[in-house]
Amino acid sequence: MKTVLITGCSSGFGLATTRTFHDRGWRVVATMRAPREDLLPRSDRLRVLPLDVTDPASIDRAVQAAGPVDVLVNNAGFGAAVPFELTSPTLARELFETNTLGTMLLTQALLPQFRARGAGVIVNVTSSVTLKALPLVALYTASKAAVNAFTESMAVELAPFGIRAHLVLPGRAPATRFGDNARREGLDHQAYVELMQQFLAGMRDPLAPVTHVDDVAEAVWCAATDPDAPRRIPAGEDALALARGG
Ligand SMILES: NC(=O)c1ccc[n+]([C@@H]2O[C@H](COP(=O)([O-])OP(=O)(O)OC[C@H]3O[C@@H](n4cnc5c(N)ncnc54)[C@H](OP(=O)(O)O)[C@@H]3O)[C@@H](O)[C@H]2O)c1
Repeated sequence: MKTVLITGCSSGFGLATTRTFHDRGWRVVATMRAPREDLLPRSDRLRVLPLDVTDPASIDRAVQAAGPVDVLVNNAGFGAAVPFELTSPTLARELFETNTLGTMLLTQALLPQFRARGAGVIVNVTSSVTLKALPLVALYTASKAAVNAFTESMAVELAPFGIRAHLVLPGRAPATRFGDNARREGLDHQAYVELMQQFLAGMRDPLAPVTHVDDVAEAVWCAATDPDAPRRIPAGEDALALARGG
């Protein structure tokens, strides 16, 4: 029986991906900053472990406690709607520490066992914002584009060891807690008010195609289980349209 370790399982894509792998017979290590047992079914194939991806000691503890892992899903992350000019250094660091360095450090922590076994899959959840430039999300986009770049280089480096690495690029998913958890700074600055209103109107368009949590869970499943899965897997109708150049 295979084991998947997933980050950011308290809501959204991480929670849906946990349910998908568990329903399909996998052992799942569902990690959360503040573990909650009540979100998931009781099962001897499901463990909830504490993990804050910005804390190296937390990463070490979670990897030790998890035992052998076949697939790592780096899903934890947060967004920010901020004019680049007004982005504070603190927010910039937090975005990169969670979305980028957190993904890198957890990956590094699991690579020795993948290499020793000659097998393993890394699935990094980034975003369709890296496919088409949008205003007011420059630092968030940069934190995810950096993950795209290191994953694609790492994939080539690790292929000789039997290790695969893939990217899942979700589109906009209003049903997750992403919008509530996103940071907002400087949006009332007069110079950016109109841009922000246009941006928010686009986000709230009820007719625009969106991404559903199961689109992402299926894309992660494909990356984990299909040795011929593409390196980049857009997830959701909007992300697929962007990937086609729409
Ligand atoms: N929803 C979208 O529109 C969208 C689109 C493209 C890509 N994405 C990406 O998809 C991923 C999942 O987002 P989502 O939509 O499912 O949002 P979500 O519902 O807000 O889930 C994000 C998860 O990440 C966790 N997290 C945040 N910081 C963490 C940290 N330092 N250590 C460990 N876990 C942490 C959160 O945990 P807590 O409960 O502890 O905060 C939460 O479980 C993110 O990487 C996001 O950037 C989202």
